[in-house]
Amino acid sequence: MVATAPLDIPVIEPSSCVQEFLQSPRQIFINGKWQDAASGKTFPVYNPASGQEIAQVAEGDSEDIARAVAAARKVFDDPNHIWNTMTPSDRGKLIWRIGDLIMENLDELAELESLDNGKPMGVAKVADVPLSADLFHYMAGWTTKLEGNTIPISVPYAPGAKFHAFTMREPVGVVGQIIPWNFPLLMAAWKLGPALATGNCVILKPAEQTPLTALRLGEIIQEAGVPDGVVNIVTGMGETAGAALAVHDEVDKVAFTGSTEVGKMIVNAASGNLKKVTLELGGKSPNIIFKDNADLEATIAGAASAIFFNHGQCCCAGSRLYVEKDIFDDVVAGISAAAESIKLGPGLAGDTEMGPLVSDEQLNRVTGYMNAGQEAGATCITGGTRRGEQGYFVSPTVIKDARDDMSIVREEIFGPVVVAAPFDDIEEIISRSNDSPYGLAAGIWTNDIGKAHRTAARLRAGTVWINCYNIFDAALPFGGYKQSGWGREMGHEVLDLYTETKAVCLGL
Ligand code: NAI
Ligand code: MG
Repeated sequence: MVATAPLDIPVIEPSSCVQEFLQSPRQIFINGKWQDAASGKTFPVYNPASGQEIAQVAEGDSEDIARAVAAARKVFDDPNHIWNTMTPSDRGKLIWRIGDLIMENLDELAELESLDNGKPMGVAKVADVPLSADLFHYMAGWTTKLEGNTIPISVPYAPGAKFHAFTMREPVGVVGQIIPWNFPLLMAAWKLGPALATGNCVILKPAEQTPLTALRLGEIIQEAGVPDGVVNIVTGMGETAGAALAVHDEVDKVAFTGSTEVGKMIVNAASGNLKKVTLELGGKSPNIIFKDNADLEATIAGAASAIFFNHGQCCCAGSRLYVEKDIFDDVVAGISAAAESIKLGPGLAGDTEMGPLVSDEQLNRVTGYMNAGQEAGATCITGGTRRGEQGYFVSPTVIKDARDDMSIVREEIFGPVVVAAPFDDIEEIISRSNDSPYGLAAGIWTNDIGKAHRTAARLRAGTVWINCYNIFDAALPFGGYKQSGWGREMGHEVLDLYTETKAVCLGL
């Protein structure tokens, strides 16, 4: 067991509107009706800052998934249903309204997110919630722009014949969406926004650790006027509800965000009916600092935030920090000082800069890696411990002297733990950066614009940030090379993954 350094954690009561939301067991949302799980079972949701139970939530399983799929199927398969007959413009207005309502409920959603996930409420207010609203607003604009092409065809075996050939974009159908706990509301938005913009029907399965904001979003979607059965939200465990959704024969596509391990299980489960699969999985992203750096202070702050933002619980966290040798000691000292200055506390406290990890399971996983690194001979410069006896807090941690083959360098830790290593030259660092089963993101810090572009072009990653990190936008596609996933979230790229292309050929 990793040693525990003390931490004083103030107890903060949630506001009355959040308390009211948490009072009665939260239900599943199927066909526009809030209902108990078919089994009547519920499961507890915890405040990660205290480990105390804050709510009970309906525990859906295969029967609830079957009901939700049937509801979605009924809407999708009925050509006269309002969802299928409404104009793209009206569909866009509905989706825009979801974005507006999210912003109208900004404070409540941020508080709920903070309480459930542990992240600072101030961060949820400026990042999670506005980004979620913006995603719906961005996607709303696409409903009227899902165009096909007219295609001049030649047909060598039909000399002289004339054709009018064109393509149409149609929704994939009924989509199962399984999301994780690190950005609960935002992940729901990333998934639901493009699915709705393209006219699909959805069954969303939130993470069992953090189901609350997705359920509140269900109420918002209802208030916005989305027809019953278009969006269904089934809370429950991954092994039961999630697995039932991934395997269901009447589901046309499954979109998953989470661990690479479960991503592979989803692919297997999907093979029965060969439903389409998109995956946004893990990462072990290299963050490369060159010595030709005009503003080292800003770079150090950027590199610290690349790993410590959201407590390192980001698939794209800059967890492998590579620093050109001459400035290695300065950068490591700077990041360690930044780590030590971070104020830990419950998300609801106004001065908290880093909250707890999301769960007991993640606490064990992250402290397990802290132990493994030190046992393997790496040096922990700062952190490396759990903090306090209550809640799931760990110290922001900086490690050096790790070999490239150690588990702390190869595997996703998903906590505020950065492994720093020096490098000598650009070829070496490109090859070390790419030596990973993952390929989600990468960072480059340099004032040499040519070097920045040459390095960015050689990194096998879906996102490369240059002199910045963790910049997200609804218009910027995000996703992974290699085992970091299949497909992209956001941008117009995601729309291709929620539509089928139909080629229509008319003999004239
Ligand atoms: P996970 O992959 O088990 O959970 C993610 C989602 O998948 C949850 O909704 C869960 O209920 C569901 N799920 C779990 N097993 C399933 C199954 N057999 N079939 C269908 N759905 C299933 O991730 P977990 O256990 O919460 O975290 C483990 C590790 O995964 C983390 O330490 C981190 O390394 C990685 N992770 C990566 C994320 C990312 O953003 N790429 C997000 C969360 C976790
Ligand atoms: Mg799991």
